[in-house]
Amino acid sequence: MGFAHFYVLVGLLLALLSASPSASESVSVGHPVNLPCSGESDRDVEWYFKQHMHSDWLLVAELHTGRFSPGPGFQGRVESIYEEQPGNYSLVLSPAVYNDQGSYECQYKGPLHRNALNDVKLVIFNPGSVSIAVGMSVSLPCYGGISKQARAVDLVILWKRDGKKVFQLYNNTITYGPGFEGRASVSPEQALRGNMSLTIKQTWFSDQGHYQCLYSSPEERWAPDSVRLHVTGHPLQIRTVKAGEELSIQLPTTDPLRVTFTGPGLDEVLMADAHKGPVAYGEHCGQRCELLGQEKTFLLRRVTLEDAGVYTVTDSETSRIISNISLQISGLPPSAGETTGVVPWILLFFSILGNIGLAV
Ligand SMILES: *[C@@H]1O[C@H](CO)[C@@H](O)[C@H](O)[C@H]1NC(C)=O
Ligand SMILES: *[C@@H]1O[C@H](CO)[C@@H](O)[C@H](O)[C@H]1NC(C)=O
Ligand SMILES: *[C@@H]1O[C@H](CO)[C@@H](O)[C@H](O)[C@H]1NC(C)=O
Repeated sequence: MGFAHFYVLVGLLLALLSASPSASESVSVGHPVNLPCSGESDRDVEWYFKQHMHSDWLLVAELHTGRFSPGPGFQGRVESIYEEQPGNYSLVLSPAVYNDQGSYECQYKGPLHRNALNDVKLVIFNPGSVSIAVGMSVSLPCYGGISKQARAVDLVILWKRDGKKVFQLYNNTITYGPGFEGRASVSPEQALRGNMSLTIKQTWFSDQGHYQCLYSSPEERWAPDSVRLHVTGHPLQIRTVKAGEELSIQLPTTDPLRVTFTGPGLDEVLMADAHKGPVAYGEHCGQRCELLGQEKTFLLRRVTLEDAGVYTVTDSETSRIISNISLQISGLPPSAGETTGVVPWILLFFSILGNIGLAV
């Protein structure tokens, strides 16, 4: 009995894996969401809703002879703009609550499923979120009541990001979504104890999004959990290097990134650009720069007083700042020390910028 149930659940999970035939929307609990629907103008339209694993279709709202009325459970939370845009029968659901999760069907008035205009699967996310600096490893939490008798082969775990597969464990076999090969993992030992947390190594800005954890084991119900991942830049680092020595900056990757420099009273200049083809070095480098792909390091050799300032590493694709390094030069004669007095101002400026960046 338990196993039969289990295979039904596996089927459900696999159905979720395959491309869904209807549209899908997702929203954090408490936020508004648009359920799209359009058809001929001036028609009578009804919207229905069904919760996952329930069989009843409930009325969300109806539009009969120009009168719009919400169904029970949706009063004061649904609106349509059919009046301003004839034929646009989209519903705005605001605020979304946790048990709004399920399937929505929009149809012309009449028997259920006969005149369907659109189907939308709505996924509601927890407001929980995790932040990580780009390039670092992150663990996205997911805990559930996995049966104590479950064996590794019984586990079904599926992690999705914005509706697309990230990681799947099924029948002792792991498969990955594009871009997550070898980077995403769930510990099988932990999973047997009900910890299905997903570890992502070498996070990148594009990893940001809503992650959903779906799991089952015999005698456990299919259960979803979710978390939002924010990938941020690194906090400002302060470095001091002796004149004549080298500055070395660790990079999360050498893929498409740019290193720029801003000195006291100097506009931002390019140091290195690894956007396309061979690395291009800026004039300020004067043959002293090197971007080491293997070591994921940017080097500036034989630093001088003119090299004091802020080094910014930017992702070329998104223009998002990966890190800011404020460099101070030591080992200078005391008279030259005054010039470096400008640096703390730049530093303050960048740390303010950094804070604004994080808040956004
Ligand atoms: C219908 O209205 C919704 C909600 O305002 C809007 O987001 C959507 O783009 C409109 N659809 C069309 C086809 O104009
Ligand atoms: C599970 O894997 C085994 C061995 O890899 C295979 O023989 C079996 O058919 C698989 N079962 C399912 C349900 O895919
Ligand atoms: C859950 O598993 C992850 C690794 O998959 C681990 O980092 C984390 O510490 C575990 N949590 C607990 C409470 O053991």
